[in-house]
Amino acid sequence: MSTVFASSIVLILLISQLNFPAATAANWSILQPTIGVSAMHMQLLHNDRVIIFDRTDFGPSNLTLPSGKCRADPNDRVLKLDCTAHSVEYDISADSYRPLTLLTDTWCSSATVAPDGRLFQTGGFNDGERAVRIFPSCENTDCDWLENPVGLAVRRWYASNQILPDGRSIIVGGRRQFNYEFYPKDSVSGVLNLPFLSNTKDPEENNLYPFLHLNVDGNLFIFANNRAILFDYKRSQIVRTYPTMPGGDPRNYPSSGSSVMLPLTTTAPLEAEVLVCGGSPKGSYNQSSKDGTFMKALSTCGRIQITNPSPIWQMETMPLARVMGDMVLLPTGKDVLIINGAGAGTAGWELGRDPVLCPVIYRPDEPSGSRFFVQSPSSIPRLYHSTAVLLRDGRVLVGGSNPHIYYNFSGVEYPTELSLEAFSPDYLGQDASIFRPEILTPSSELELSYGKEFILRFNANTLRNKVVIVTMLSPAFATHSFSMNQRLLVLATDGVMSILESSYSVRVAAPPSGTLAPPGYYMVFVVNEGIPSEGVWVHIQ
Ligand SMILES: *[C@@H]1O[C@H](CO)[C@@H](O)[C@H](O)[C@H]1NC(C)=O
Ligand SMILES: *[C@@H]1O[C@H](CO)[C@@H](O)[C@H](O)[C@H]1NC(C)=O
Ligand SMILES: *[C@@H]1O[C@H](CO)[C@@H](O)[C@H](O)[C@H]1NC(C)=O
Ligand SMILES: *[C@@H]1O[C@H](CO)[C@@H](O)[C@H](O)[C@H]1NC(C)=O
Repeated sequence: MSTVFASSIVLILLISQLNFPAATAANWSILQPTIGVSAMHMQLLHNDRVIIFDRTDFGPSNLTLPSGKCRADPNDRVLKLDCTAHSVEYDISADSYRPLTLLTDTWCSSATVAPDGRLFQTGGFNDGERAVRIFPSCENTDCDWLENPVGLAVRRWYASNQILPDGRSIIVGGRRQFNYEFYPKDSVSGVLNLPFLSNTKDPEENNLYPFLHLNVDGNLFIFANNRAILFDYKRSQIVRTYPTMPGGDPRNYPSSGSSVMLPLTTTAPLEAEVLVCGGSPKGSYNQSSKDGTFMKALSTCGRIQITNPSPIWQMETMPLARVMGDMVLLPTGKDVLIINGAGAGTAGWELGRDPVLCPVIYRPDEPSGSRFFVQSPSSIPRLYHSTAVLLRDGRVLVGGSNPHIYYNFSGVEYPTELSLEAFSPDYLGQDASIFRPEILTPSSELELSYGKEFILRFNANTLRNKVVIVTMLSPAFATHSFSMNQRLLVLATDGVMSILESSYSVRVAAPPSGTLAPPGYYMVFVVNEGIPSEGVWVHIQ
């Protein structure tokens, strides 16, 4: 109680000092005080369950494996026999979780949801560095991880993934890997060089977990350290070199800023913009690890139109400096949530300070200078190894934080966090209920075809001017401040038709191609005056 009260005072002070408007209806609630493992990596699947895992060399977690199962691993650096879980499946509607069995080390790995809905999780550390682990999205509760310890061509630790129009993933970089590969593998391509990654490596290695975004022209946008390229991965050629981000400070791990591609429209002219926010200044890692001096995090964001042949970075200042934040696209199609992280220091063991408890919303369509909105604070610091993912009901699931090399629950600053929390943006508040649409049909998962129309029927108490927007959002893989494969499309619609009182239908054009919407599962939302419905799952291939 007192912490919440104290944080509210901090918020009020911040707002009065900075003149940034605050949202009041947004709130936080603790869903689970402990799930036994720390949510270092999270992925929502289309069965409305979230796959969560940390690493196998953390020592014993706080969750025992079922039926006397244990992992006997002679390669484990900490526990040769570990009878605890390092992964759970969290069921959102039941608000319950069950332990899963990982055999190889998933520490600092990456993932993609395949077009058929299975989670393809790649890389890690030690005996997991070349592993590919598959988690099926199952109806029942007896599925578990299937592991191939040599699924990748080379070791990938701190790599990033992006799903491609053909349904494969490209896996880029990782520590001491200046190259990329595809998964599933094809017969032609093995490991392909990417000198951009060695060129952006500095002494602090601020180019790990590169930010990847699939551009609307099919090329891959890659941001590492303070630079970016547009890359034709099929021909292994750089198509465009973007200007260095002004200021020159690094934005990737361990200087961990975050990045999203802003909401895309699916009709011509096709344009795309990328936003990169926060991070820590050059030298921050060295200073915090060697001298115990925790430099203030970066407070700037850079925004760039990546489809423009001669683009420039537009720099903006956030109300709160932040390193290790997570950026989450909200279903309104007009909001980017920036959440979690620290105000000083950097990523790495024990190197973050000044937890930033208030999320901030960035509204890309507002005039420059009035795009940031400070949200109400959580009471739980979420520093290194924390995550956030959007749920189909519009809440944001937040978990993790473990700045320590093992689980450490007491006698340390920022103890290992095993809780799961939900942040409810203000569109979930009572005041929004008169506008909130409810999708009636489809009432279960809908199969879409590229370029074909589909119909959504929905209820809304108040629908002024009969205008809604329809958004389509991919569930992202969140880890280390970057949500891989996160993508939001604002779909083309024709007018809304009335069916009965408060009941309407809208015809919607599915995305025209896999370049705009790589195959797989997405959530579709109807948004009325900025208030989204609950989403429905769709599949496109
Ligand atoms: C560990 O689990 C026990 C039993 O569920 C629980 O009482 C305790 O609070 C948990 N510890 C942490 C740090 O979550
Ligand atoms: C950080 O420390 C390493 C190792 O001492 C050194 O090689 C590097 O130059 C330092 N980097 C910076 C940016 O100070
Ligand atoms: C937790 O941290 C304390 C304080 O640094 C240390 O004494 C203890 O050994 C740590 N426990 C583990 C399991 O690492
Ligand atoms: C938080 O907001 C949600 C959505 O508005 C609401 O259902 C819930 O009751 C609120 N919780 C608290 C503790 O205020």
